Amino acid sequence: MDLETFRWLLTDDGQRLLDRATHAYADAEGDPLRATAAVRRTEPDADRAAAALTTVQLRVRAVPKMGEDAVRMYFTPDALEQATRRRVADHRAARLAAARPASVVDLGCGIGGDLAAFSRAGLVSAGVDLDPVRAAMAEANLAALGLAGAVMSTDATELDLGAFGAVFADPARRGARGRVFDQDGWTPPWSFVEELLTGGRAAAAVVKVAPGIPHDLVPEGVEAEWVSDDGEVKEAALWSSSLATTQRRATVISGGGLASLTAEDDPYDGLERPVRPLGQHLYEPDGAVIRAGLVTAVAAGVEGGLLDPHIAYVTSDKSFRSPFMRAYYVVDELPFREKQLRAALVERNVGPITIKKRGVDVVPEQLRKRLALTGDEEATVVLTRVDGVGRALLVRPF
Ligand SMILES: C[S@@+](CC[C@H](N)C(=O)[O-])C[C@H]1O[C@@H](n2cnc3c(N)ncnc32)[C@H](O)[C@@H]1O
Repeated sequence: MDLETFRWLLTDDGQRLLDRATHAYADAEGDPLRATAAVRRTEPDADRAAAALTTVQLRVRAVPKMGEDAVRMYFTPDALEQATRRRVADHRAARLAAARPASVVDLGCGIGGDLAAFSRAGLVSAGVDLDPVRAAMAEANLAALGLAGAVMSTDATELDLGAFGAVFADPARRGARGRVFDQDGWTPPWSFVEELLTGGRAAAAVVKVAPGIPHDLVPEGVEAEWVSDDGEVKEAALWSSSLATTQRRATVISGGGLASLTAEDDPYDGLERPVRPLGQHLYEPDGAVIRAGLVTAVAAGVEGGLLDPHIAYVTSDKSFRSPFMRAYYVVDELPFREKQLRAALVERNVGPITIKKRGVDVVPEQLRKRLALTGDEEATVVLTRVDGVGRALLVRPF
């Protein structure tokens, strides 16, 4: 969508077309071809019709990520993909607001996922984006949500930041989907981010980065916070020293609320990892806990140890529940070799099976197919390695 078409979409005529597109999409039960045909019958301009229909489709797609507010917002497909999900953005904004900066500027605000959260949290907020369409969408999104804030299209690296109490940046990342963390090619660049966090450019800074950030890339005195939402690691945020309260933190968000584990919760931080034989319970730490290097904090919390010093499974004889891990009873130990494993599962009348693995070269989907179990009992099997030896554990979640 170009800027001119987007600006037209915000006019009364544009909003009427958007309403018609919304109804056409619902009447066509989400079928894009039927919805397009219906919209084109009343709107001869192909660009405008496409802009309205794309907006409706992206609003529907955005609801799981951005919540019900999404149905009033504007997106481009890429900007929606890059936007911070609502619960994570709200957490960050609440944390920043608690530090009471006079204001915050969002450097590269995109369509305003984080910017809206800052404003919702009561911060005096401004956003800039190099891309004029995204900046216009961010401005329209604040207005649509009844939130205050100023937006401008400009290059963040040329902005005088002295007037702001805090800065936030969420650089556009090339190759962000891969497992390898690659800070080259970020815009704004990593050198700019580093200066925000440690230099004199800003009084306080928060930067969102990919969760794969190596610990040794985190500048001295800066806090790294890994955040998961519903068990999935979403991002890491780097907090400059004036906002940092620890060195490493895992924040776990779920429908039930939010919990945080820090390096101070880990009695083994910097010490040898506690390792022990398999107990009656197995604990699988949340991905944010693993990324934050706090698996041994979970081990301490359950009065247990790791099965293997290099693999993130914790075991204990005691039963605990916590938001930082999934907990299982260890029902039995099974043979690790595939043929014998299958025989043991058949003997137990197993059919539907969940396969979890860590530290072993197994593709659960493929193994499930090869096992071809047809029994009635559901089972969860954990495949892992202890001292280089494969182990298969039959477990039950609790
Ligand atoms: C990952 S997106 C931000 C998403 C945003 N946090 C959200 O939740 O919607 C990064 C944004 O930075 C913008 N950007 C990249 N380099 C910039 C620069 N030098 N100045 C301003 N904006 C920039 C891109 O256009 C892009 O919209």
